[in-house]
Amino acid sequence: SLPERVTIKEVGPRDGLQNEKEEIKTDDKIEWINQLSETGLSYIEITSFVHPKWIPQLKDAVEVAKGIKRKEGITYAALVPNMKGLERAIEANVDEVSIFMSASESHNKKNINKTIDETYPVLREVVEEAKQEGKSVRGYVSTVFGCPYDGKVDEQQVINVCKNLFDMGIDELSLGDTIGVANPIQVGKFLDLIGTEFTKDQIALHFHDTRGMALANTLVSLEKGYYIFDGALGGLGGCPYAKGASGNVATDDLVHMLHEMGIQTGVDLDQLLQAGQLIQGKIEKSLPSKQMNICRQT
Ligand code: HMG
Ligand code: MG
Repeated sequence: SLPERVTIKEVGPRDGLQNEKEEIKTDDKIEWINQLSETGLSYIEITSFVHPKWIPQLKDAVEVAKGIKRKEGITYAALVPNMKGLERAIEANVDEVSIFMSASESHNKKNINKTIDETYPVLREVVEEAKQEGKSVRGYVSTVFGCPYDGKVDEQQVINVCKNLFDMGIDELSLGDTIGVANPIQVGKFLDLIGTEFTKDQIALHFHDTRGMALANTLVSLEKGYYIFDGALGGLGGCPYAKGASGNVATDDLVHMLHEMGIQTGVDLDQLLQAGQLIQGKIEKSLPSKQMNICRQT
């Protein structure tokens, strides 16, 4: 049955911005995140402590994390690939760190420059140290439903990666459809499979809308009882190391659908759209979501 309430995790300031070519000013990012904090969201992934050469757009991660106004009740999280990233995240005092790796070898290598087996000890150390610092830890698995280089990814391989991350002590796992290839039947079957391994409060869904299937995949997940979803406001985003990956499911379209279905999110759609207009003005291009499109026409 459908959940009564859904938790939305806004990843736009990280997953959205990481793919923007034009440099966005640090103050503009801070202003946007501060406005996102006023929308009722309970979780915002604000930046990423990866190598600045790999993702130049987010090289100001420490300044952003230190510059925003923290609102009580909101978890401010950031991506961390290794110990160097964790040091910076601790300096910037984020609430939660997100480690990440791929279920497919080729994407893992392209994205973080290591094989899957080489990645585990790096992440294990990050989780241990982050926990000692009192941070909660989220894990992402990318290319769960398909890889831009390796094609279809073996489901058992995905489950092994998930189990290994939970063994390290992560609190929650986000399943990434990095290049937006998943279809609702595939998602439903996969959720049935992992439902025998993990509980629903351990799993988030991270859909990209590259082929327009993100809301359909969300609906199937809701019907299976899952209630934690990642989104990027306006549909900003992509993965720079997955060719053709476009934005995440738009948080505004997601909120709209959920509210129309009678499912609570705690997010105020009008406030969200105002925050969408703010970042749209900064990046000087139209955001792809349906809700933002309606906004532009009224
Ligand atoms: P590497 O070159 O193999 O790193 O990159 P290294 O460990 O060999 O270190 C080389 C140098 O980089 C050293 O400096 C380190 O200190 C420095 P030197 O000693 O030569 O002066 N360095 C760093 N500096 C700052 N911050 C750091 C850092 N780490 C090392 N964190 C690395 C390996 C993982 C760092 C690199 O590959 C990287 O940054 N990759 C990030 C790629 C990325 O951000 N991709 C997008 C995010 S993932 C995603 O979008 C998917 C997701 O949304 C889910 C989904 O949709 O599926 C999460
Ligand atoms: Mg992503």
